[in-house]
Amino acid sequence: MEKPWEGRFREKTEEFVEKFTQSVSFDKELALWDIKQSKAHVKTLFKVGVLKEEEAQKIINGLDSIKEDIEKGNFDFKESLEDVHMNIEAELINRIGDIGGKLHTARSRNDQVATDEKLYIKDKLLEISKLLKELRKSLVKQAEKSVEIVLPSYTHLQRAQPIRLAHYFLAYREIFLQDEQRFLNAYRRADCLPLGSGAVAGVDFPLDRFYTAELLNFNRVCRNSIQATAERDFILDVLYACSVCGMHLSRLAEDLILWSTEEFDFVELPDRLCTGSSIMPQKKNPDVLELIRGKTGRLYGNLIALLTTLKGLPMAYNRDLQEDKEPLFYSLRTIKGCIEGMMLIVEGMEVKKENMEKASGGFTLMTDLANYLVMKGMPFRQAHKVAGSITSYLLERGKRPEELTLEELKKFSSLYEEDALNLLNAKDVADRRKTFGGTAREEVLRRIEVAKREEGML
Ligand code: ARG
Repeated sequence: MEKPWEGRFREKTEEFVEKFTQSVSFDKELALWDIKQSKAHVKTLFKVGVLKEEEAQKIINGLDSIKEDIEKGNFDFKESLEDVHMNIEAELINRIGDIGGKLHTARSRNDQVATDEKLYIKDKLLEISKLLKELRKSLVKQAEKSVEIVLPSYTHLQRAQPIRLAHYFLAYREIFLQDEQRFLNAYRRADCLPLGSGAVAGVDFPLDRFYTAELLNFNRVCRNSIQATAERDFILDVLYACSVCGMHLSRLAEDLILWSTEEFDFVELPDRLCTGSSIMPQKKNPDVLELIRGKTGRLYGNLIALLTTLKGLPMAYNRDLQEDKEPLFYSLRTIKGCIEGMMLIVEGMEVKKENMEKASGGFTLMTDLANYLVMKGMPFRQAHKVAGSITSYLLERGKRPEELTLEELKKFSSLYEEDALNLLNAKDVADRRKTFGGTAREEVLRRIEVAKREEGML
C-alpha cells in the first residue's frame, strides 16, 4: 500500500511497525467528523483562492461519496494506511484522481486530529447533556411520587435523621445538574478551532481561520499554533467530567444495591433489569447497578492514563498523543451507558413505603428531643447529653423512643412537657426542617416546583 509519506524512505515499512503504530482500528470512530472538517477546509481553500471552484466541488463530492459508504459500513479501513485521516485521503485520491491530493494543502494531521477530536467531543457532550437531563427528570418524577414517604437518612451508614424520600431524589437531581455543568465546561474548552495551525508553526497559505470556524460551528479560534497542536487539556476535561459523573452514579448505585437487599428491603428492582445466578435459584442480582459502580474504575483510570501520557512531553506534537483516543472513546461511551442504565433503574424501581417508614422513627428522633430543650433555653451541649442519656436508658431496656412517656422524659429534664411527645413521630420531625434546602414537606414541595420549572417539565 502506497503511503502518503513514503517519498523520503528507502525501505518498506516493517510489518510490526505498521501494526504497532496504526490507529485506524480505533480512530475510525472519528471518520464522519474528519470528513466534515475536510469539507470545511476545502471551502476555506476555495475562499482564499488556493483551490478552483471545480476542484473544490470535485473534492467535496468525493468526500460525500466516501461518507455515504462509511455510513453504510461499506468502507474498508486499512491498517497499512495508519490512521483514519490517511485512509480517507487515500480513498479520495483513489476515487477522484490526483486532484484529491490537493485536500491536504495547508493542513497537517496534527491540527487535523485535534480538530476531529473537538468536533467529536462537542457532539458527544451534547448527547450526554441531554441524557443527564432525562435522568434528572426521572428523579424529579420519583420525587413527586415520594413526598409523603419518610425514611431515615444515614450518616456513617447509621440511621441519622428522618427525611422525606423526595428530598433524597432531589439531592441526586442537584448532583446531576452539577455534572451537566461540568460537561458543558468541557464543551466550552473544546469549542476552539485548531485547524490552520499546521504541524506546529501555522501555515504559509492565507487561510481564513475564522471562516473555517464559522463553517464548523466553533466559537473561538486557537490563538497559538503550538498550543493548538500540542495540548490535550480539552480531553482531560472530558475524562474528568466522566470520572466525577461516574463516581456520582456509583454512589447512587451503591445506595440502591443496599436498599434492594433483604436486610434493607427499601426498594424492589424490576426483574427486567436484574439477572440471575447460574447456581443459586433464588438469586436476583442488581448487575446493572454493580456494573455502573464498577465501570467507574476505568473512567478514573483513563483520566490518570492521559495525564500520565501528557506529563513531561516536549512541545509540541508527539506521537504519544495518539494514546488519547481510546480512553476518550471508552469514557464517553461508558458514561452514556451508565446514565442510561441508571435512568431505567430509577424509572422502574418500586419503593417499599412501609419498610422505609418502619425504619424511620426510633433513635432518628433523638436530635429533636435535644433541640426541644434548646428551644426552652438549655445550651445545646447540655441538651445533647440529656438526649444521650435518654438513648442509653432506652437501649438498656430494649425500648424505642416512641414508647417514652412524659413521666419518663421528666426524669431526665423538667423542661419536657406534653408537646415533647409530638416529637416522637418521624414525619413531624422531618417537617420541622423548614430551612432553605431542608427536608420539610413544604420546602420539598417548593423544590420540586423549582426543579420542574428548571427541567422544563411544567
Ligand atoms: N494518528 C495520529 C494521532 O492520533 C494523527 C496525527 C499524526 N501526526 C503525525 N505527524 N504522525 O495522533
